[in-house]
Amino acid sequence: MQKLRITAVNVCRFVLAATFIFSGYVKAIDPLGTLYKLKDYAAAMSLNGLLPDWMLVGVAIALGALEFALGVFMLFAVRRHVVSRITLAFMAAMTVLTLWIFVADPVKDCGCFGDALKLTNGETLLKNIVLAACAALVAWRPVDMARFISRSNQWIVRYYTVAYIVITSVYCLYTLPIFDFRPYHVGMNIKQGMEIPEGAEQPEFESTFLLRKNGETREFTLDNYPDSTWEYVDTRTVQTKKGYEPPIHDFALTSCDTGEDITEQVLTKKGYTFLLVSPRLAVADDSNFGDIDQIYEYAEENGADFYCVTASANDEIERWRDLTGAEYQFCNADETTLKTMIRSNPGLMLLKDGTIIDKWSHNALPQTDDLTAPLQQLTIGKAQNDSTTERLLIVLLTFFLPLSALTLADRLWAWSKWIRNKQSNNRIFNLFKTEKKMRKKIVAGNWKMNMNLQDGVALAKEINEALVADKPNCEVIICTPFIHLASVAGVLDSTVVGLGAENCADKAKGAYTGEVSAEMVKSTGAQYVILGHSERRQYYGETAEILKEKVDLALANGLKILFCCGETLEEREAEKQNEVVKAELEGSVFHLDAEAWKNIVIAYEPIWAIGTGKTATSDQAEEMLAYIRSTVAEKYGAEAAEETSILYGGSCKASNAPELFSKPNIDGGLIGGASLKCADFKGIIDAWKK
Ligand code: PGA
Repeated sequence: MQKLRITAVNVCRFVLAATFIFSGYVKAIDPLGTLYKLKDYAAAMSLNGLLPDWMLVGVAIALGALEFALGVFMLFAVRRHVVSRITLAFMAAMTVLTLWIFVADPVKDCGCFGDALKLTNGETLLKNIVLAACAALVAWRPVDMARFISRSNQWIVRYYTVAYIVITSVYCLYTLPIFDFRPYHVGMNIKQGMEIPEGAEQPEFESTFLLRKNGETREFTLDNYPDSTWEYVDTRTVQTKKGYEPPIHDFALTSCDTGEDITEQVLTKKGYTFLLVSPRLAVADDSNFGDIDQIYEYAEENGADFYCVTASANDEIERWRDLTGAEYQFCNADETTLKTMIRSNPGLMLLKDGTIIDKWSHNALPQTDDLTAPLQQLTIGKAQNDSTTERLLIVLLTFFLPLSALTLADRLWAWSKWIRNKQSNNRIFNLFKTEKKMRKKIVAGNWKMNMNLQDGVALAKEINEALVADKPNCEVIICTPFIHLASVAGVLDSTVVGLGAENCADKAKGAYTGEVSAEMVKSTGAQYVILGHSERRQYYGETAEILKEKVDLALANGLKILFCCGETLEEREAEKQNEVVKAELEGSVFHLDAEAWKNIVIAYEPIWAIGTGKTATSDQAEEMLAYIRSTVAEKYGAEAAEETSILYGGSCKASNAPELFSKPNIDGGLIGGASLKCADFKGIIDAWKK
């Protein structure tokens, strides 16, 4: 069952990853296309003009980048909790949107996959329902997603992906989309694109007629059309079947000077024609008009035609002429057609015998230095090889290859670490490794605010007797409330059971009513003190600075310290546990010198596991303890880290202790609830004998 669940989560994760990468990428490489789609939606919601175009371009880029990044993060299982939740929220919003499109039909194509793949509104809804279900499953069990890259290296994937897609998007906005999925791509013969092949499906229509007789109005079709006694009222015609629609079905040019249709003339012209395409001249970028004028002059000299095609009316054309000194001819075409032809306003298109052989954005127009000979002798005058495969290869090489190399390196590193770990756990191997000192194994009880004096002393006696009779394989400590300390010290055999306090004051001595100093703790016979417990941090406002004072005073009075650290549930869900724990250590104990450090035992206690019955899995605990050991190694060196005992705490009991203690980095436990009964506590201590 568990296997099935994990497989299902991973299948869904790959489906989501593939879809998001594809849909994000096709949007990102065509930010203007995405902008047009956003405007269609805004118009359908009567929100037109709410945001200026430059802001909408930003939204378009962000949308493509978000989808692409979510897809890549899903693929590599990066920040699994956050990413799966954002994906679910995204899919939920998209499903609601597509339900609306399906019901109200405000836009014809959802634009999910840009121009690369067109779906009907029904297909889009179905697709989104499936994807939303996948997203829900993944968000339910994000940790089932197998990671390809260790957590410490995931930041490379995050930054690289976001930088890559934003740079790609901005580059495509500045020049033209890297891949052109529209019918007006390089290599297309416009006239052929408009042809309807013989035998193609014809559209079908059905008419209904409204007729009246003797005050009664009824509907008829051609099949049951009545006699002439009925008086005609109205006809309604609906299309019942869509016929074949050629890829180009909306290309028509009308000369602005003569009003004549010049489509045929332009498309059948032998030789070269430049089309300067500007859907709206009023909002066209006029910064490169010098280049445009020079290309026009070059065209004139070399027998090529040059037209500016626009949907603008005469006043805008006149304004453009005044502004740029344009001498070329103007003709009109449909605005949507022009936006489809080229994603630049203005953009330049070169036709040879009616076939599109090149396209340029106004930012990357051919320069006069390139136009040194007649077009047929220049490379730009030759039909371009459509190099889609080449471009696809560039994308793979620049994006997926580096990430695959990173994954491989990371896996090799993880594998070598696993081998090293295995070796250090191998008893035979360790026999020869004489330099490795065994760290102290510890089981410490934390009674918290439980037990009156009599019960506490009785429990301490019972534990002491049990352990004297059956010597433990580890060091055992019991930490009790202050008032128990002196009495409990009297009943313990200190060679078998150590004693500790649960706290001490952050002041050495003086007028601090109710406080108990480290010196007083030491004077009871106790050897240890717990500091930094999450309950003290949470309920008594103990900050890193206060704890630092307590640590210094405890050490100055000859006490050893069980120093606690750990993260909250929110912090773990945000995958911040490493930084939280590191900050806690840095804030209160990492100021100590190497000699003082020898008196520190660390207890990692995830707050969400304390007293909740919810234990961290042995792998989670091991991962954190290994991390803590690595930070100790960074600070005090590898040898000191090897000798530091690090305990796990949080719902540790006799049943889970053997599994936890079997992990190489877990040196024992700090036990709350289960330390209040001798049998339970002894059960945990005995885990070291298994
Ligand atoms: P628990 O407490 O074992 O009851 O979860 C551990 C602790 O707070 O030290």
